[in-house]
Amino acid sequence: MRAPDIAYLTDIHFGVGVAAVVPELLERFGVARPLVVTDASLIELGMPQRLGLAGAEAFAGTETNPTEANLRDCLAHYRSAACDGLVALGGGAPLDLAKLVGMMVAHAPALEQYAILRGGTARIVAPLPPLVAVPTTAGSGSEVGRAALLRLDSGRKLGFLSPLLLPKAAVCDPSLTLSLPPRLTAATGMDAISHCVEAYCSPRVNPVADAIALDGLHRGWHAIRRAFARGDDLAARSQMMLCALMGGLAFQKGLGAVHSLSHPLGALPDLALHHGTLNALFLPFVLRFNQEACGPALDAMARALGLASGAAVADAFERLLAELGLPRRLRELGVPREALAPLAPLAAEDHCSATNPRALDEGAARRLYAEAW
Ligand SMILES: [Fe+2]
Repeated sequence: MRAPDIAYLTDIHFGVGVAAVVPELLERFGVARPLVVTDASLIELGMPQRLGLAGAEAFAGTETNPTEANLRDCLAHYRSAACDGLVALGGGAPLDLAKLVGMMVAHAPALEQYAILRGGTARIVAPLPPLVAVPTTAGSGSEVGRAALLRLDSGRKLGFLSPLLLPKAAVCDPSLTLSLPPRLTAATGMDAISHCVEAYCSPRVNPVADAIALDGLHRGWHAIRRAFARGDDLAARSQMMLCALMGGLAFQKGLGAVHSLSHPLGALPDLALHHGTLNALFLPFVLRFNQEACGPALDAMARALGLASGAAVADAFERLLAELGLPRRLRELGVPREALAPLAPLAAEDHCSATNPRALDEGAARRLYAEAW
């Protein structure tokens, strides 16, 4: 069936201290034994306690770029502890992992048949166990998104998409992001900003998402330096959390080449490259590549950011990356040059390429990788 053009209906609890609402939400959703999907560092920081979930079952093994093996482990934990619902606590990785655990609780293997590129959206049909998403970074926007990404046993990082993957509630408490170190604040914040930019440039018609994307971009652009320089600036943290949330709401329009180029690199097993760091790096290159195909969108973004013209947006982002101490070239991340050519066809085929304003074929992906190296 054709997907709706505009789709919004997520319960979002937003504000300092709202994390305490999680037990009440679980009760309302009829969840007696939740599994908290998170990672070891957040357990160490006492995050489950802050959600009133000190005694709950927890899976602390989420990897930076979650894998199919990671999903099997988490699913086994869910089943052996007889859980009946999920709380995703952390960045995009545990949020996406929890979505897919919920999907595989309700659907028969194999996982790959449900991937977007395999026509899997139509196969995701059964109701999933309730999921409450609690982001502790201001980045992925996955708390309000219908998509999840995972590296499969085959080595490919594939996307999954269904309205059924949408969390039943998003609990966005900016105070949970206060302990995020500067480097991750910058990298996850640039992921959120890249969602606003790419959704806004997507050629799909969704003016509601456009309005959200532009406002989210404005907030992120003005807050990211403050959140980076002063981690305890709660006002800046709140703006960044809004930017992430709005990016997530906007990307139902689709993303673009930044994400297409980033996904295959994020699937390289040995480098464990961070999604937001890669997106930040690709953003200026892709904006220049897209320049002629989305001039009016770039001009509108320039106005929102107080820049002279659309042509200045890519340079402005490049300066921002320097201010935030983020890498500007792939070689700085230890990516071997010869690793890139085999990734070009995967980037061209990525589910985000369809909504890049300029066609991203294999040759274009190869050139962009080479430039960014
Ligand atoms: Fe992203």
